[in-house]
Amino acid sequence: MPLTPRMNRIVEGDALEVLKTMPDESIDLILTDPPYNISQEGKAIYRDIKKYRWKRRTNIGLDFGEWDRKWKNDKEYFDWVALWFKECCRVLKEGAWIYIFFDKQKTGLFDLMLAPANNIKSRCIYVWAKTNPVPSFRKVNWNSATEHIWVGSKGKSKLKNFKHQKYMSNYFLSPNASAYKETEHPTEKPLKLMRHLIEVNSNPGDTIMDIFMGSGTTGVACKELGRNFIGIELSPKYCEIAERRIANTVTEMFV
Ligand SMILES: C[S@@+](CC[C@H](N)C(=O)[O-])C[C@H]1O[C@@H](n2cnc3c(N)ncnc32)[C@H](O)[C@@H]1O
Repeated sequence: MPLTPRMNRIVEGDALEVLKTMPDESIDLILTDPPYNISQEGKAIYRDIKKYRWKRRTNIGLDFGEWDRKWKNDKEYFDWVALWFKECCRVLKEGAWIYIFFDKQKTGLFDLMLAPANNIKSRCIYVWAKTNPVPSFRKVNWNSATEHIWVGSKGKSKLKNFKHQKYMSNYFLSPNASAYKETEHPTEKPLKLMRHLIEVNSNPGDTIMDIFMGSGTTGVACKELGRNFIGIELSPKYCEIAERRIANTVTEMFV
């Protein structure tokens, strides 16, 4: 049975397979955070407790899980991205926008290849600037304090809710979710950031899709803001976490 929008549910399954069952032009906004294929099996940055007092906290993990290191090389990974991106473009309504968290060194894939091939307009790179980046332990390079979100639209449409100019620069300042995490998901994103993107790009009642739902942050933001959502997540464990989190979320009265 084909999925229909306005379902407010998480579908447990593979993003590409589920996408293929969805009708054309049925989604008002896609906001998603795929695996980056950057995890290094079993690796972490081990902190030298003697040298730095503040290193008594945990080590920094470099392995988010098997789901983030499935592809042997960039070519294999890019081929997979091209498949789900094409399906995302098909299910987006004309004029709808798409936001994809992506490895900052690889966002050119969308600008140079995938967006033109799918008649999508590249709009900008939106930056999440972390106020608590991981320090550069060896002090040889700049601290990595940003995550990049590639932004495109199907056609030349405007943002739905342009706020005051002071809120409309293409960056958002927020600590890494590890500072206030609600779940055990290793890459939980800041709820405030997701809310901001959803508020600017959609209206109450719109249907928003996240094809890599993880701990359900997009779903929580949608429910709080009175938007419908469709989430897809491969891991049964993360589906359960997301479902519980969304069930405990209350829609705000003013929307
Ligand atoms: C970067 S995380 C998303 C985190 C999410 N934004 C949050 O705030 O919790 C990516 C998620 O995609 C899931 N995933 C990986 N491959 C998938 C696939 N083929 N289909 C659906 N989900 C997949 C992983 O299990 C992981 O939870």
